[in-house]
Order: sequence, then C-alpha cells, then structure tokens
Amino acid sequence: MDKKQLRQVVNQLAYPHGDFGLDVAAKMNETNAFITARSIEALAPKNGEYIAELGPGNGALSIDLVRAIGSEGRYLGIELSDDMAISARKTLREVASARVDIHSGDCRSVSLTKASLDGLIAVNVLYFIDDLDRLFNQIRPWLKPMGRCVFGIRPVRTLESLKFHDFGHHIRSPEIIGNRLQKSGFADISVTYHDEGEGSLGDITFPNGSIIIRAQVADES
Ligand SMILES: C[S@@+](CC[C@H](N)C(=O)[O-])C[C@H]1O[C@@H](n2cnc3c(N)ncnc32)[C@H](O)[C@@H]1O
Repeated sequence: MDKKQLRQVVNQLAYPHGDFGLDVAAKMNETNAFITARSIEALAPKNGEYIAELGPGNGALSIDLVRAIGSEGRYLGIELSDDMAISARKTLREVASARVDIHSGDCRSVSLTKASLDGLIAVNVLYFIDDLDRLFNQIRPWLKPMGRCVFGIRPVRTLESLKFHDFGHHIRSPEIIGNRLQKSGFADISVTYHDEGEGSLGDITFPNGSIIIRAQVADES
C-alpha cells in the first residue's frame, strides 16, 4: 500500500463515508472486536443504565453493550458520519430492547443534561480529537457521581506504523490521556494493556494491542 492509499484508509477511519467507508467499517468490525469487547467489559454496563458512546461506527460492535442495559436502559450513540449513524441506528434498534438514539454529528457540538449518564465509552476515537481538555471538560458534567468512562486506544507504536501523525491525527500515550482526564476532574484512573500480536492493514504489518483507560467521576453526594 503506498502512502496515498494509506492516507485514504486512515482518513476513512476518522470519518467513514460512501461505499469505501462502508467497506472500511466492515473491516473495522473485525479488527476492533477485541478492543471493543475489552472496553465494554471495563465499562461494565448494567441493567437500566443510560450509556453514551462516541463514534460507534456502524454499531455492530455495540450490540453487546445495548443488550447489557436491557429494556429499561438507554443508549445514545454520537457519530460524526451520517452513513455510519444510519447503519448504527438500524443495527442497534433491531437487536435492542433498550431505547436507542443515534445522534448524527460531532460529539464536540453535543450538549447533554448534567449528571444524566451512568457511563460513556469511546473506542478508537480520541486520535481524531484535537483538544482533549475541551472534550473531557465537556463530558465530565454529563456523568452522574460515580459515573464511569472508558476509552479504548491503540498503542503508540501501532499508530506510528499507520502514520497517523503524517495524516493529521493524534498519537498519545495512555499516560498523557490519563493526565488530561485527571486535570479535567476524573478520578480512579486505571490503564489495562492487552497484547494482540501482529496486526495488518493491506501489506502493512505492525505490532498491535489494546489499551483500555477507565476513569470515574468522584462521588460528590
Ligand atoms: C476508527 S472509527 C472507530 C469505530 C468503532 N468505535 C471501532 O472501534 O471500530 C472512529 C469513529 O468515530 C467517529 N468520529 C470521529 N470523530 C468524531 C467526533 N468528533 N464525534 C463523533 N464521532 C466521531 C468516526 O466517524 C468513526 O465512525
């Protein structure tokens, strides 16, 4: 794969759209099943909870999450790409007994009721956010006291292999993200690493892994 082709693929990861975007999303469902499952485990969604997800893609990997919150639960997906939002709405409403809302748009432009969420999850999304402080300060008030948030990211060496910096996206270590979370008022920050061996994208191979960052809002009651 030459640099132009890699740029096209990586930019589709940031904003999957059109026929190629649908193909890239289907491939992401294979590649990102493990990291998403580990992220959902860390979030530990419970029956009846209200959970928001930033960047769910086509929704296929969020099925276990919407099932876990049951018929009393509520799921809000916030997805930048209209094409992904349409797929996610269809897929998740078909399988869920929970209330499923999918907002099509940039998560940075969304406003939610203060202290309404039990949890928030975003897998493979933070690379595309320029100002982490702004995002974390925006979402923290959405969470109830003791509300959890989980971010799944790839290791620095994986993202460097895919030249994320060259294409204008962000490569951040879990330490940097943890520090930004702490600065924005999150507590109990933990990081878990899972080795996934060698990954591949076309003819590019790279060391792959899943980093799961979990944080919580302090109990103010
Ligand atoms: C790399 S994909 C990850 C999809 C899925 N979470 C996964 O891990 O397979 C990133 C997703 O986040 C969405 N996204 C990127 N920036 C976003 C933003 N500012 N607000 C909401 N969604 C965003 C993209 O449209 C895309 O669907």
